[in-house]
Amino acid sequence: MRSVPTPRTFRVRNFGCQMNVYDGERMAELLAARGLEAAADGDEADLVVLNTCHIREKAAEKVYSDIGRLVKGSGRDGGSPPMIAVAGCVAQAEAEEIFARAPAVGVVVGPQAYHRLPALIEQAARGVRALDTEMPEDTKFAALPRRRRASPSAFLTVQEGCDKFCTYCVVPYTRGAEISRPFKDLVDEAHKLVEAGAREITLLGQNVNAWTGEDETGHLVGLDGLIRTLAKLPDLQRIRYTTSHPNDVTEALIAAHGEVDKLMPYLHLPVQSGSDRVLKAMNRSHDAEGYLRLIERFRDSRPDIAVSGDFIVGFPGESEPDFMATLKLVDAVGYAHAFSFKYSPRPGTPAAAMTDPVAREVMDERLQRLQAALGRHQFAFNEQSIGRRCPVLVERRGKRAGQWLGKSPWLQSVLFVGDAAIGDIVKVELAEAGPNSVQGQLLERALA
Ligand code: SAH
Ligand code: SF4
Ligand code: F3S
Repeated sequence: MRSVPTPRTFRVRNFGCQMNVYDGERMAELLAARGLEAAADGDEADLVVLNTCHIREKAAEKVYSDIGRLVKGSGRDGGSPPMIAVAGCVAQAEAEEIFARAPAVGVVVGPQAYHRLPALIEQAARGVRALDTEMPEDTKFAALPRRRRASPSAFLTVQEGCDKFCTYCVVPYTRGAEISRPFKDLVDEAHKLVEAGAREITLLGQNVNAWTGEDETGHLVGLDGLIRTLAKLPDLQRIRYTTSHPNDVTEALIAAHGEVDKLMPYLHLPVQSGSDRVLKAMNRSHDAEGYLRLIERFRDSRPDIAVSGDFIVGFPGESEPDFMATLKLVDAVGYAHAFSFKYSPRPGTPAAAMTDPVAREVMDERLQRLQAALGRHQFAFNEQSIGRRCPVLVERRGKRAGQWLGKSPWLQSVLFVGDAAIGDIVKVELAEAGPNSVQGQLLERALA
């Protein structure tokens, strides 16, 4: 590599899950604190950070085509491409391989090491490729600058990593072991986010409900304890959390849904499959019945709770009856929302070595059937909400003039026309259901 001037402008591009969105924001804050300037939309940046996802093959391979495009498409003065930093889960999983496959890359930094990004950029500017995929004891959180900017709906990572080792999944390898951030740091960061304009905070973790910590009195508390404390912040109006694991659900968390007004009636609880045989092969360590019982208990606590999930079709050995069991579970739950994926074998995971793959056409056909069922339930959920009057948090302008887009308590996208501003919580009557959104009528401006 040849040396290049230290970059003055940057852009961070996020892929993958919400935890990457959080990390991307923090990298941007870190670079800004070091005097770099975020490139304006449409402008070329001196440094492009690709914050990558390794969860499925398609996501991981996308990095290389993006790098190719950055190198080729750089119509910059003199034609020199930007400095490229690969961050996130592909960086962790592939490390040096990235330099071998994409020599244009200057920096590779894993998801637990990105607080060291400025030094790595300096090194790359000197013409020496920089790699850091350590998972240091002194966590990145302690080394990052204080929060200054927040959107009305902000993310706050409270827990990272995963010890579950589902047989198909790379996350335990790319993110490392489960850790909980300290209670006090989280309350402080939530405070900063609210001061900076957040009205809603979504607590994040790969297994967010595995979070534990000592509260201000030294008591060991779970996620419900953290939620109850954050609910006392006067200007914070809404609290959400994602993603939960069935095995980490506690009675106290279920109870919080019935007791804490600011905790929104929404639960993302992935199940992956409705077949006990497949769940076992996936090492999910819960069965379909146990999952359904959990959902029932959440509904006893908060009857209007919207349930969301994740599904994988075509796991090795999945038979037609196994898949039918998934459809049956989908009907039993009546999901308000869900993500569904075709199984993608990932290098180094136990499932990648399993024989008995499901044929591609069968996977395609199952995904279509599953998505049709999930789509029906989502539409039915939107339809049954029509006539409700509810608070909507305004997040951005809609496509039409005078139109706004916000979120209902059940995380539906609500479109309405009228006098409002980003960050307002307005009262809306839900009027017309669509497959992915609901049209509303503005009743009252700025409730809170
Ligand atoms: N920690 C969360 C989310 C993990 S990743 C959980 O345990 O549910 C998000 C989703 O991606 C998973 O829930 C799963 O549905 C999907 N996924 C993970 N690995 C996959 C793979 N190898 N192929 C297809 N989908 C996968
Ligand atoms: Fe992956 Fe399973 Fe951990 Fe979720 S619980 S991150 S699917 S290993
Ligand atoms: Fe992807 Fe890593 Fe998130 S693999 S889903 S970015 S934890």
